[in-house]
Amino acid sequence: MKTIIGNWKMHLGIRESIAHARGVLRSVMGHEVLPEIVICPSFTALSEVRKVLVRTRVSLGAQTMGTERFGAFTGDVSVAQLDDAGCGFVIIGHSERRAMNGESDAIVNAKMKLIAQTSLVPILCVGESKETRAAGKAEVFVAQQLGAALRGVTITKASRLIVAYEPIWAIGSGTSATPADAVAMHNVIRESLQKIGIGASVQVVYGGSVDGAHAYSFLREPGIDGVLVGGASVKIHEFEAIIGAGREVMIAQNV
Ligand code: 13P
Repeated sequence: MKTIIGNWKMHLGIRESIAHARGVLRSVMGHEVLPEIVICPSFTALSEVRKVLVRTRVSLGAQTMGTERFGAFTGDVSVAQLDDAGCGFVIIGHSERRAMNGESDAIVNAKMKLIAQTSLVPILCVGESKETRAAGKAEVFVAQQLGAALRGVTITKASRLIVAYEPIWAIGSGTSATPADAVAMHNVIRESLQKIGIGASVQVVYGGSVDGAHAYSFLREPGIDGVLVGGASVKIHEFEAIIGAGREVMIAQNV
């Protein structure tokens, strides 16, 4: 199974989100073999997009969540509220939030602990900066980020975890990592997870300037379980092409 996640970031209003979600549904219509598809609109559009997705094969996710369950936390949205809004997935530790909203390793860890008490699937983002990669420290950095995020988090055999490797330098830059570099880092991620005792139910996906033209070259790699797509996920023809690449790989490899 391959998983394709669209992170719509702060791009679409409610009406546009509804129209775009309908477009995604149109592009999956009539296909028996399909990758798992998750779309993550802004908070304001979650309820309306949920209505569009009811009884379809496209799932709903959120882009972030707060660090508490309920209470006096103005502006925050808790994991319980996301559950209530019909989200099955939530992105945690995106580098944009780490950089712009002070989402530290400790905060990411607190969120992971809260999610572990729910049925939502975390999409945990890790990834190094250009400088860290240039210094030859990318692998150590990503392994540390992963360890810090998952410290004390109980992941049972029944629960799912998606780790998204998103090198910061590849996000929104138009220059993705090569599939070979992504596979190498995915192997590091899997080894680190094994060391901390988290195994089978983890998927590792790649994110960073994925588009319709080259999604296939990532998705065909057995070590890449899917893609997390930003800019191209809000362009219907691009996202459709990425879903198509996922289908092609699944049919060709019978996965
Ligand atoms: P781009 O696909 O726009 O590079 O964004 C990737 C990303 O940040 C997805 O979470």
